Amino acid sequence: MIEFSPIYFNTLDSTNTKCKELARNGAPHGTVIIADYQTAGKGRLGRHFCSPNGAGLYCTVLIREGFDMTNAGLITPCAAVAAAKAIEEVSGHDAKIKWVNDIFMGGRKLCGILTEASLPDFAVIGIGINLLQDKNAFPKELHSIITSIEEETGRIVTPKEMEKALLRHLSNELSELHERTFLKEYKMRSFVIGKEVEVHSGNDVYTAKAIGIDDNAGLKLELPDKTIKTLTTGEVSIKVKA
Ligand code: BTN
Repeated sequence: MIEFSPIYFNTLDSTNTKCKELARNGAPHGTVIIADYQTAGKGRLGRHFCSPNGAGLYCTVLIREGFDMTNAGLITPCAAVAAAKAIEEVSGHDAKIKWVNDIFMGGRKLCGILTEASLPDFAVIGIGINLLQDKNAFPKELHSIITSIEEETGRIVTPKEMEKALLRHLSNELSELHERTFLKEYKMRSFVIGKEVEVHSGNDVYTAKAIGIDDNAGLKLELPDKTIKTLTTGEVSIKVKA
């Protein structure tokens, strides 16, 4: 189990950035940075993560000790299982995982995860969960793509409630990361297996069918010519086709 020690802020540019700064200055394993509001929340592939004031949980946990960083590629999918379980617990609704780091409800994204590692010393796991309906804070083009717990379920979940559930599930799942027990849940909750996907990898864009998740949490694809290809958790993004 991991003993988490949260540090709270009203406003930060990014909880990931703050957590990395503290990690470089020797902050201990289990440090958690939480902000009500992020002015420059970071997503994967250099994207912005919109973080309206008080409308979500924006947090980053630091892991370092006793952690075999050769498994660093498993941290994000493992954290995704913890986030999905925590969201299900507080919302009472099913949450799905879109490979590799997004949690979906009702077909739209309500949570994203950004893991940044400074190997072999530490990794920070940043998790953002949309709790309240605050669509005006998001650019129009995202309205049909994103959602929140309130929008999907009508429930008002406070950041504190979400934080408690999330940290408990993260502690459980990360403690067993090496046994890869999370993989079963990761597959069960997959939003992509069996679907046609569009893969974006640098300038390359192609379609394929997602057919499974392997033991390293890679996404197995069947290409149109029936060859099988596995995506690892790298700089790739996928869109699920309607
Ligand atoms: C993504 O959707 O691509 C990942 C989004 C990760 C957002 C969280 S919010 C808390 C933490 N701080 C950040 O700057 N990013 C992560």
